[in-house]
Amino acid sequence: MSRSARFVIALVVGLALLTGVALFAVTSTTRAWFEKDIQLRAELAVSGARDSLLERIALGDGEGLARLLGELTRDERIMAAAVCDASPHRLASTPEYPEALGCGRRSTQAEPERAASKDSGTSFSVRTRLEGGEVQANVVPLLEGSRVRGFVILVHDLSWVQRREGTTQSFLLVAFAILAIAAPVVTLIAARMSWRGWSEQLRRLLQGVGPEDSAREFQPILRDVRELVERLHQEREQEGEGGTWTANRLKSTLSRHLSGERVIIVANREPYIHQRAADGGIQVSHPASGLVTALEPVMRACSGVWVAHGSGSADRETADAHGRIRVPPGEQSYTLRRVWLSKEEEQGYYYGFANEGLWPLCHIADTRPLFRAEDWRHYREVNRRFADAVCEEVEGEDPVILVQDYHFALAPRMIRERLPRATIITFWHIPWPNSERFGICPWRVELLEGMLGASILGFHTQAHCNNFLDAVDRFMEARLDREQNAVVHRKRQSLVRPYPISIEWPSQWAQATPPTRECRASVLAELGLPPDTLLGVGVDRLDYTKGIEERLQAVERTLERAPHLRGRLTFVQLAAPSRTVIERYRQLNASVEVLAERINQRFGTGNYRPIILLRAHHEPLSVFRYYRAADFCYVSSLHDGMNLVAKEFIAAREDEQGVLVLSHFTGAARELTEALIVNPYDLEEASAAILAAVEMPREEQAARMRSLRAFVAEFNVYRWAGRMLVDAARLRQRDRLNVRLPGRGLNLLPGGQRVG
Ligand code: G6P
Repeated sequence: MSRSARFVIALVVGLALLTGVALFAVTSTTRAWFEKDIQLRAELAVSGARDSLLERIALGDGEGLARLLGELTRDERIMAAAVCDASPHRLASTPEYPEALGCGRRSTQAEPERAASKDSGTSFSVRTRLEGGEVQANVVPLLEGSRVRGFVILVHDLSWVQRREGTTQSFLLVAFAILAIAAPVVTLIAARMSWRGWSEQLRRLLQGVGPEDSAREFQPILRDVRELVERLHQEREQEGEGGTWTANRLKSTLSRHLSGERVIIVANREPYIHQRAADGGIQVSHPASGLVTALEPVMRACSGVWVAHGSGSADRETADAHGRIRVPPGEQSYTLRRVWLSKEEEQGYYYGFANEGLWPLCHIADTRPLFRAEDWRHYREVNRRFADAVCEEVEGEDPVILVQDYHFALAPRMIRERLPRATIITFWHIPWPNSERFGICPWRVELLEGMLGASILGFHTQAHCNNFLDAVDRFMEARLDREQNAVVHRKRQSLVRPYPISIEWPSQWAQATPPTRECRASVLAELGLPPDTLLGVGVDRLDYTKGIEERLQAVERTLERAPHLRGRLTFVQLAAPSRTVIERYRQLNASVEVLAERINQRFGTGNYRPIILLRAHHEPLSVFRYYRAADFCYVSSLHDGMNLVAKEFIAAREDEQGVLVLSHFTGAARELTEALIVNPYDLEEASAAILAAVEMPREEQAARMRSLRAFVAEFNVYRWAGRMLVDAARLRQRDRLNVRLPGRGLNLLPGGQRVG
């Protein structure tokens, strides 16, 4: 029921009650008035005839009394009259006088009986109901001096009183009915008119065209509305609602929320590597790194400085004396600050502690972590050198610094010590292991302490956040705030949050890649394959976590299970050599080659080789051509933080064709649920998925791909960065406010994070 309907009902019920009370009051008051009026008239009439009446009584003249009574009853309202002596005994009465009234002991009425009592020297009246209706008997004493000589009883017909009461009641009821109809109508009209006036005035105020101080009553509502608008605006921005996150939106978020501050990224791998080519020239290459794939577009949007290891053979000569160079080449939207490492530093910090220690520690891929004290020393030293480089690049006291990955677990605290008010976001691009496994590391406490120098710690999934919190719980003296997902350590709070990483959308590489038909034709021609080839593709660094051997074995199992695919199914693996100084990577390199060769020998015929292993660095444009040419892409990681190859394949497939077969053990499998999700260790399941992929009808491919593309388009890397930056901005804002509240018993810390 609407509010106005309820209001009208309440109004009518209220009026009805009011009318009931009014009826009762009016009826009883008019009746009292009438009674009094009749009494007065009776006394007046008797007083006029009193002497004659006393005379007749004294004479015992009944006839004379009757005559006098006849005159008294000429008044049309007096229907009968009687005279009694003081005994009381009726002396005379008019013919209409009701016997029942009497005036003696046999009377049915108590009151006339009272007439006999000695003290009844005053008049009184009594009402009674007779056959003809209600009557009022007025008993008036006949006094001679102070002695009562008798009584005159005048009987009044009350039917006219009742008639008048009826008329009054009818008037009242009609008035109520009119009021009941008119009141809601008038109220509604008045309400509507004032509502119109208010809303018009409010609208004008909100549009800023009204005189604000003229409407003081609107000020609270105006303030509420403005706060609400502002909050919605912020939420929309944070959640990416109301439009997809784009490079421009990220840029404006940065300038609005972080006052246009530059962002400083620290990541070991640089986005542009300058290499001296065989012909003596200098080439720029894009490294095969998911981290670079994700962060480079963010840096182009935000500008700032990327601090990285200068690993290219021509890096020094292309940078200035401070190791700085503007990139991307030709576009120059941000600065790349290169840090130079000695051979020993690179060996100990990068190959040793980071890639032989932390990398296998964090990935469940059956490779033992190796921890050497010498590597740890280099790791600490190089972290210090990068922290120094960051401090050289910052402009203010509270810069925004994004520390990337397992190469720099110690840098956040080192930076914090130098820049207490900095906002430091650490993002861990690889999985975080459970506590049993993490406990293997001899420097586990130092690593955790180092990371907790950050204001925000980001992981791809909530599971990795939980593992991190468990490690803190188990190995450190720190307070966990499970509700906030935060750690309080050394009176400082670090938020621990999942931020699943992604790729730029639209992809610059997809836009620069020719259409599917052309890609397919050129790739098949390059590989010497016939047009009806069923082509699968894998794109990875040659890394034991990627499950490349399991992938090739799944292709082999597919050919065993489906002989009709022999001669038609070809799997091309783009394998970028990686970390080749490390023994385990060299082993992998050799074993993958042996495996590919064995499968090719087993199923190859004539020119047909089911596995094509392209061990080389491939630039993104070339990779995208393969994505577009393929019928399916198999990502078979044994353990992977996110895996951006899966998302790149989706970005490449503007034609909405192609099937993604994806390992369950990637972070991406939690998001890309329309892919064929498999356990890469289970060759039966993986080969069944490959079979399903090559046989999948075009419509189903399109339906799955459309949905995957919609997801990646929305959850792109600008959103990833935007959410982290907005969270960082909130922290900064809170910190700045806390600084303005000194002496209020709040525990203020350098860097501003308050712990109450
Ligand atoms: C992973 C790591 C990145 C790294 C990339 C390539 O994605 O998370 O930090 O850049 O592998 O490895 P590389 O050792 O060649 O930089």
